[in-house]
This record gives sequence, C-alpha cells and structure tokens, in this order.
Amino acid sequence: MRQKLVIGNWKMHGSLAANATLLAGIKATPARARLAVCVPFPYLAQCQAELTGSSIGWGAQDVSAETRGAFTGEVAAPMLGDFGCTYVLVGHSERRTYHGETDTTVATKALRALESGIVPVVCVGETLAQREAGETEAVVGRQLTAVLDALSIEQLGRIVLAYEPVWAIGTGKTATSAQAQAVHAFLRQQVAARGSELAEVAARLPILYGGSVKPDNAAELFSMSDIDGGLIGGASLKAEDFLAIGNA
Ligand code: PGA
Repeated sequence: MRQKLVIGNWKMHGSLAANATLLAGIKATPARARLAVCVPFPYLAQCQAELTGSSIGWGAQDVSAETRGAFTGEVAAPMLGDFGCTYVLVGHSERRTYHGETDTTVATKALRALESGIVPVVCVGETLAQREAGETEAVVGRQLTAVLDALSIEQLGRIVLAYEPVWAIGTGKTATSAQAQAVHAFLRQQVAARGSELAEVAARLPILYGGSVKPDNAAELFSMSDIDGGLIGGASLKAEDFLAIGNA
C-alpha cells in the first residue's frame, strides 16, 4: 500500500509574516497523508527553522541542472540539501512553458536532486490542445521516457511523479477522477513496461495528481487506485484547505 502524499506548491507567493502563520496552521493538526511544502528559495531557511522536528517535509520548486560554477541566479542541489530539503519539484509546466525547460533538462535536474539525496517530484502533463488532439499519452509518455532514460533503477525507486494537466492548473477545471486515473495508470504501466526489474519500482511509485485540487474534490481523486495524493497550488496557501486535502 502506497502512503498518500500531499505536497503544497506555493509558487511565487508568501512573505516571512504570512508564511509563519501558514506554517503554524498546518503544524497545529496532524493530517492522514504525509505533508510537505515546496516554497520559494528565500523561505527554505524559515521552513527548516519552523518544520524541523515536525512530520511535515519541505522543499524547493526548482533546482539547477548544473552542480556548481558560473551560473548566475541558479541554485544547486547541494545548496537545497544544506537547508534540509526532502523534495524539489522538477519540470513543473510553468518552468517548461516560461523557462523553456526541455524533457532532457528536466531529467538532468531530477538526477542532480537524487545525487544530493533529495526526492525529485517530476511533473508531467499535457496542454488542452494536446488533449483535444488525442495526444495526452504521447506527451506524458515522452516526458516520462526522458526521466526513465536518465536514471538508474535504484534512482527511479526514489522519485515521485506528478501528473498535472496544464489545462487544470490554476483554472478551477479539474480532470475528472476517471480522466486522472487513466493517465496515472498509463504512467505506472509505462514504467513497468521498461522491464521486469522495474515492476517493483512501478508498483511502489507515488504518482500525485495536480491541477485545481480543492477540499471538495480531493477525496474523490484520491480514492482512485493509481492516485497517491496531490500537488496543490492555490489551496496550499490556506492552512485549513491544505489540511482538509491532507485528510481527504
Ligand atoms: P493549482 O496548481 O492547484 O493552483 O491548480 C497546481 C500546481 O501548479 O502544482
């Protein structure tokens, strides 16, 4: 049985004062799922100070594909390690769209995270045009394949996958539980199809759903057999909503 995992993606939101209130709120009540928050880089120290010793994990929203050197503005995986990060998002659709991240870059970022003992949450998902053209499986399959090609079996056993249809992110449009389940099952099967050595990895792989998950639709989504939790944007900024999703 895979334990449910619910990760908040704060995106470019927050302030020291607002975060203090939010973190105190989510620490106050235990949730049934494992919880974590992925926050802007400047707030990692605050998360480390506030969440160390709690059951809540934390992490970043991106990591450099390089390890060190003259890469102004980049943040390397070992630096995230210094701040106690458990997770880092890689390949979020906003990174792919606004920062031109390719499947290969995303796979390299996942590798860098793993080398520093950080769990990459690899995001995949299709746009509305791609879904309407019947290309969903081709698109997410291609995004996943780049990661499968770059990582060893042992490393694949340490990743989290997140299916986030681009058309559902921040739009209030959620994939139906059946639509999401179908893609999750496809992704798990793609991992298993790589060879018998990956059967175990596929069976244990946590696959989160993201895209307008709210307290009122989380339980239905999380009840599906291949949906192992959620990656939560907007609703992770309110302690009450985030906890309600963590208990869904
Ligand atoms: P949303 O964002 O929950 O606000 O749709 C999800 C995400 O982008 O990870």
